[in-house]
Amino acid sequence: MTLRNFIAAAAVALGVFAAGAAVNVVPRPVSVEEHDGQFTLTSKTSIGYAEGLEEYAMYLDSILLQSTGYELPVVAGTSKAAIALSIDSAAVGASEGYRLEVGRKRITVVGADRGGLFYGLQTLLQLFPEQIHSDRPARNVEWNAPCVSIFDAPERPWRGMMLDVARYFHDVDYVKHYIDMMAMYKLNKLQFHMIDDSGWRMESKKYPRLTEVGAYAGTGPSRLGGYYTQDQIRDIIEYGRLRNVEIIPEIEFPAHILSAVVAYPWLSCTGLQHELPRQHFISRDLLCVGKESSMKFLFDILDETVELFPSKYINIGGDEAVYDRWKECPDCQALLKREGLSKASELQGWLTDTVARMMADRGRTVIGWEEIITRGDVSTPVVALIWHNVADSVFASSKGHQAILTPATHMYLDFPESSTPGEIKAAGWMPPISLEKAYSMPVNDYSDSSSVIGVQGCLWSDQFIHGTVLQELPQLDENRSEAYVDYLTFPRLLAVAEVAWDKESRRSWPDFRRRVMTHFGRLDAMGAAYRVPEPSITSMKELPSGEWEFVLEPSIEGSEIRYTTDGTYPTVHSALYKGGKVVAPSRSDFHAVTVHGRRVSLPTYFAPDYSRYERYGAIAGQWQPLQVQTVATPWNIDVIGKISGNGSYEITFIPEKGGDIHFGRLKLMKRDEQLADVDGDYTVKPGQTATYRFDVDAFEAGTPFTVVVERNGVGSNETSGLVFIRKL
Ligand code: ACM
Ligand code: ZN
Repeated sequence: MTLRNFIAAAAVALGVFAAGAAVNVVPRPVSVEEHDGQFTLTSKTSIGYAEGLEEYAMYLDSILLQSTGYELPVVAGTSKAAIALSIDSAAVGASEGYRLEVGRKRITVVGADRGGLFYGLQTLLQLFPEQIHSDRPARNVEWNAPCVSIFDAPERPWRGMMLDVARYFHDVDYVKHYIDMMAMYKLNKLQFHMIDDSGWRMESKKYPRLTEVGAYAGTGPSRLGGYYTQDQIRDIIEYGRLRNVEIIPEIEFPAHILSAVVAYPWLSCTGLQHELPRQHFISRDLLCVGKESSMKFLFDILDETVELFPSKYINIGGDEAVYDRWKECPDCQALLKREGLSKASELQGWLTDTVARMMADRGRTVIGWEEIITRGDVSTPVVALIWHNVADSVFASSKGHQAILTPATHMYLDFPESSTPGEIKAAGWMPPISLEKAYSMPVNDYSDSSSVIGVQGCLWSDQFIHGTVLQELPQLDENRSEAYVDYLTFPRLLAVAEVAWDKESRRSWPDFRRRVMTHFGRLDAMGAAYRVPEPSITSMKELPSGEWEFVLEPSIEGSEIRYTTDGTYPTVHSALYKGGKVVAPSRSDFHAVTVHGRRVSLPTYFAPDYSRYERYGAIAGQWQPLQVQTVATPWNIDVIGKISGNGSYEITFIPEKGGDIHFGRLKLMKRDEQLADVDGDYTVKPGQTATYRFDVDAFEAGTPFTVVVERNGVGSNETSGLVFIRKL
């Protein structure tokens, strides 16, 4: 530990901080040299800009006006200004890079290009006290930044986030907030997921029903959804341009396009009329590739997209198609024969190649989910978003394509951060993704020959599509959708940003964690409704007495830790942690929460030890005396994430206490669809088990699965027990 880190750690332990003293930039710059002294911003500080860069000076000026209240002079030219903005690609040397010099009297920000200059400004803002990001003047703040020399440049050109506005429509203001947050952390590509089964969000002049009909679920004043006009889209693109965030439109096909089929039923193979779904649903209806009319529609829409979006890349989606409709469609089958293909799935490769060539003619490159390169041959170079396995980027490069890593295991921020009871409901088809896990995402874990251009986080909305009222967030005292999306996005967006920006060999979780601790105040000032992290445990051990000993550390600079040792959840009135060791009778009796202003985190939590039941699989539920009635009643057990694919499963009920309990018929439901129905008639008591077996053959990621079992207590309602599930 360096002296500086030691002082920082000691300050954390004492809960005191010297404002603006430390350099805690996220993502971590390539090199930071700290010097003595500081720069003090006053109402006289001038901002000067080299030719053509006035908009960056005005951007900085407007941010500083909001937070400091100072109307700083903005001047053309850099020689006389206190803060001087310029571009010199030779002096910086790396695309999107910058050099930032903060002296006692003068600050120079030199970008390699416009993006680099913008990033120099972001780093500069992160050197000032956190209130610098506030949208209203902060009082009693000394606007000091430490003197430093920073050189910085990204390791990867693609640093993205995907926002799913198709399943949940966000208004323009929220999209701009998302862009601001991405820009603050130097993310430069927003994949704008505007099209999906449950909504079409891009105005089309040629096909107006796409938004008149396809943008709304239901009819009348209570209909849900919305869309962006072309003017609004141009506004979003311009907002992103200044902030070095390129807006990449995603036009999904051949699947995930039911919203267009609802508007124009002739686009599909069957021509049947459908409705927009209100819950997670992947339609089997594909765009019919065998009909001239639907291909003309596709080309028209892509042309309109190219006209509207200046981005180098056009995303064509391409994920999760099942080909039943193409197999049954005479037009699609005729096309398959004409093209000499053998399987319906190869039509997707043909479609991707056709569109990729069309886009190449217009100077654009096609990008899409990994399926665009794995379903039939594609000879035109494209970019694949690898969402299953990062090693598949090697396959992409072996076929002459490029890849972006967005593995669901680490980069899907629609999964919650934890499985602690009380965590918000979010995607459950895979384990939670903690901040640390997101930060641990492997990037170099593939062959040297792969051509990975970057990393991307994804925020899907299929678990809270626009027909569904979002759940309340007790932690935030909010039930608004934007707070929910912010909760899932922050602080993990910071991990996405650093994984994308920095070399993997330089990554250090303790260092990242320490810097992130200081960013929550910045997120507050930016109006980002983040998830409050639980306190960290720096050490814990079992004592000879069988008790457990814990040492803790706050996870937010300046926050309090409150804790309990009796198995209850702490409140703001529980014991205040003042450093040192805390002893609890058992590990699972210990709980601690972060108290940050008026917000309280979920508790640091240790699940009870079920290792003695390991052979029965993973814990899926438990019952308590008061939940069991003497008449047989259906009991719903949420098995999202436990049903992880097609195959055979075993579910076992294990009474732990009390008298007999009876289990009868058992069903497995995929949302409302019954997948299995198993007869049963078990009366069991502690020491006995009841096991059912069933098969799953229609697994779908993202869909909730529930086991429903008839249950009643026989002779005693003092029963309690556990449920385990296992894939065979
Ligand atoms: C995806 O998650 N369907 C790309
Ligand atoms: Zn067809």
